[in-house]
Amino acid sequence: MERTLRTERLVLRPVRDEDVDRIMEYRTRPEVTRWLLRKDADAEFLRQWWRSVADDPDNHSMAVTLDGLVIGTVSLEVHDGMGQPGMPPRTEAEIGYIFDPAHGGRGYATEAVLAMIAHAFDRLGVRRLTAGCYADNHASVRILEKVGMRREQHGVEDSWHDELGWVDGYTYGLLAAEWREATSSGRVLR
Ligand SMILES: CC(C)(COP(=O)(O)OP(=O)(O)OC[C@H]1O[C@@H](n2cnc3c(N)ncnc32)[C@H](O)[C@@H]1OP(=O)(O)O)[C@@H](O)C(=O)NCCC(=O)NCCS
Repeated sequence: MERTLRTERLVLRPVRDEDVDRIMEYRTRPEVTRWLLRKDADAEFLRQWWRSVADDPDNHSMAVTLDGLVIGTVSLEVHDGMGQPGMPPRTEAEIGYIFDPAHGGRGYATEAVLAMIAHAFDRLGVRRLTAGCYADNHASVRILEKVGMRREQHGVEDSWHDELGWVDGYTYGLLAAEWREATSSGRVLR
């Protein structure tokens, strides 16, 4: 399976041990941790997590590089959806992303997420993709809507935030068939 994805401006590739210190530089910034569930992850935890990705055939998470510099990561974990016995396995995946705010607002996260979505549907055979975020995380909401994902759940006060308390969360979904329709009609850029 292809382990490198290229977009117009970016290269997505597996995370290496030596990337972790660079990832920590932006991942520990308050404006980033503010929206993360795993906000206390230290370098050792991340190093182990990224090593486990390399050994996990269902985990397709990658570093996103711009001219060789890691500016973010996009996670993609394939799993079984919900269903009774006989359900085809490994057809659903969850996507997530964390980017360096120093490179924010230039469409890099959107470009990388689009590449990962195309990879999931076109290469990995994923049938349904999901993503979740805090409703107040407006940049994240914007990315999910720009890439054509559908808001499927508005969970009222379903999520704990350490500064804000109980807050609303959103869940988004997208089917492979919807993606193909949207890309072929030009509603979503590839
Ligand atoms: C969310 C995040 C990935 C965005 O990265 P980015 O490279 O700036 O994303 P892009 O430039 O591709 O797109 C961001 C969009 O959000 C918009 N945006 C940014 N801040 C916003 C705000 N406060 N309110 C509304 N829209 C906002 C931008 O204008 C842009 O939309 P546009 O293209 O229509 O102008 C990055 O800020 C991040 O990693 N944040 C912390 C971690 C996180 O929240 N991860 C997601 C958890 S669900």
